[in-house]
Amino acid sequence: MVVPDSQDEMYYPPIELQRDAHVPDFNTYLELYKKSIENPDAFWKEVADEFFWKKPATGPMLQHNFDVTKGNVFIKCMEGAKTNVCYNVLDRHVKRGNLGEKVAYYWEGNCPDQHTEITYSQLLCQVCKCANVLKKLGVKKGDRVSIYLPMIPELVYTMLACARIGAVHSVVFAGFSAESLCERIVDAQSCVLVTADGVYRGEKLINLKQIVDEALEKCKERGCSSVAKCLVVKHPALRTKSGASCNKLQTPWDGACDVWWDEAMRGSPEQCEPEWMDSEDPLFILYTSGSTGKPKGVLHTVAGYLLYTYLTFKYVFDHRHGDVFWCTADIGWITGHSYITYGPLANGATSVLFEGIPTYPHVGRLWEIVQKHKVTKFYTAPTAIRLLMKYGREPLQKYDLSSLQVLGSVGEPINPEAWLWYHSVVGQGRCPVVDTFWQTETGGHVLTPLPAATPLKPGSATFPFFGVEPTILNEHGEELEGEAEGYLVFRRPWPGIMRTVYKNHERFENTYFKKFPGFYVTGDGCRRDKDGYYWITGRIDDMLNVSGHLLSTSEVEGALTEHPGVAEAAVVGRPHAVKGECLHCFVSLKGSTDFNYSLVQELKTLVREKIGPIATPDFIQNAPALPKTRSGKIMRRVLRQIARNDRDLGDLSTLADPKVVELLFNQRNEAAA
Ligand code: PRX
Repeated sequence: MVVPDSQDEMYYPPIELQRDAHVPDFNTYLELYKKSIENPDAFWKEVADEFFWKKPATGPMLQHNFDVTKGNVFIKCMEGAKTNVCYNVLDRHVKRGNLGEKVAYYWEGNCPDQHTEITYSQLLCQVCKCANVLKKLGVKKGDRVSIYLPMIPELVYTMLACARIGAVHSVVFAGFSAESLCERIVDAQSCVLVTADGVYRGEKLINLKQIVDEALEKCKERGCSSVAKCLVVKHPALRTKSGASCNKLQTPWDGACDVWWDEAMRGSPEQCEPEWMDSEDPLFILYTSGSTGKPKGVLHTVAGYLLYTYLTFKYVFDHRHGDVFWCTADIGWITGHSYITYGPLANGATSVLFEGIPTYPHVGRLWEIVQKHKVTKFYTAPTAIRLLMKYGREPLQKYDLSSLQVLGSVGEPINPEAWLWYHSVVGQGRCPVVDTFWQTETGGHVLTPLPAATPLKPGSATFPFFGVEPTILNEHGEELEGEAEGYLVFRRPWPGIMRTVYKNHERFENTYFKKFPGFYVTGDGCRRDKDGYYWITGRIDDMLNVSGHLLSTSEVEGALTEHPGVAEAAVVGRPHAVKGECLHCFVSLKGSTDFNYSLVQELKTLVREKIGPIATPDFIQNAPALPKTRSGKIMRRVLRQIARNDRDLGDLSTLADPKVVELLFNQRNEAAA
């Protein structure tokens, strides 16, 4: 790599940050990158030295095998070392760093009148109390704890309490359905579930405890009674000022299993000795959609995840003491795990923890919070940017956004129009936009600009982070040099990469390592341009990215075919102005079933109930037949083109019955939105 000097029309040389940056220019990036690749041991050792180790490592910083033909795939970081992640992200700052009085989180609730702040010492105290509560409920080292909570501080307390006592948390996004929650509890065999009575999203009140009870009922029907206790937080919006319940919800209660959080925390000791964990002990499981079958329990481990989220946060957002960082993701996704909980806390940062939505109670809500807390680094998804773009500049002009220094994007490709709006309107042309490419599996950023060092091209995630070695392969597994397009793969591990699929190492190997032995396969397509910039071109498997969330087409198809009137279903992605991509579903009905409005509504409800509102189909169209090859395989490429109304179909010679295509184009106009 050399310092790029592009002739491209859209090319943004680095903007000087207000203070000296950690990586001040591209040459420094190149030097550090070279060191991380040529001498990973020395590079990561220096990072590890910033943390506390109860026992030092006996092995090298990283060991691995990525080649399935040579034996089991494995990745190990700092073998032999013992530490505790919670100790490193809290006690280390409070006890040794005098950061006790520093604010860890500014919490902003769904309604602007609900807010609070939590210092590092208060956070440590709450985490220890919660850790003692979990122990009292029977949680031991290695046990799994499912967490189904909205974006309230108790979510962070519970995650860190698990880390403190060596329990493995499994956070389930609180927008998921009872069915999805049940599936994740059954797989993890969790012994405790932590939830809240309810939550407001905008003006809508959601009875979370009722969903939890439904999920637990379903677990029992499937022979899983692992959850012995359910710890229930009373949501601050559902109390009166004095803390009493305000009865807006009927909270179903089972005295044998359910425990109120407040009652359990009252009198719980404020000290809790951390459990000293092996470097490769599990830290958490987070489920992500798979292109076939059930969601995969992506497993991350103690030492590597700590080092990687720490370093990516520090460099990619050029973190400084005095910053106020705000990542708008939900902690139910990996972005929240890495860049709301672990990365910022490992750096002793101050973050905003936001429960609400960008448009409630008004479309300037995000900018109001930026002004209120003088946010310096802001991290969101292209979907949110496109949504807010629709309202124009006016909602932003009411607020002072001059505190902003770095803007981040994550979750899906950002289209140049949204990038330019983010850069010029939100960042007022002053702030670099870091388009960070990564995955639940990668634990942290893998392709990303560094704000003061990397010249930017809108829509490109630019270059690899330290220790990451990307390459592009063609269908035959041959490496492509220079300008090229193909499969994005990585040749070696970095500390934060996942270690396995929980209880299914074979699936881990099959999904990520089988296609091209010796490489981790991301599942994304990628282009490298003449200047060496990487451009993600989208998924190459049957996964869809709706509003920055990965969805499995087969999971949605499975939900649709559960309807008694549906014989067969095929789901493809279709471009959407705000969500990036949305779901277009083709359903073949059984003989006596009519395709009509009420059927479409039933199908939408079914998908919401089975998976959750994020998977709600935008279009459902009648498909008397599906385009199949002679061997019976659905030609998804053709369906994608029908969904887009693109008649440039190319070679259809492998289709068993080409007439189906015209029929589906005709029916498309009647697709119910
Ligand atoms: O397709 C890529 C897309 O999101 C996928 C990972 O999704 P998930 O595991 O849910 O994690 C999302 C948050 C890290 C990737 O395989 N993706 C993520 N970031 C980008 C992206 N596509 C393009 N550009 C990005 N910056």
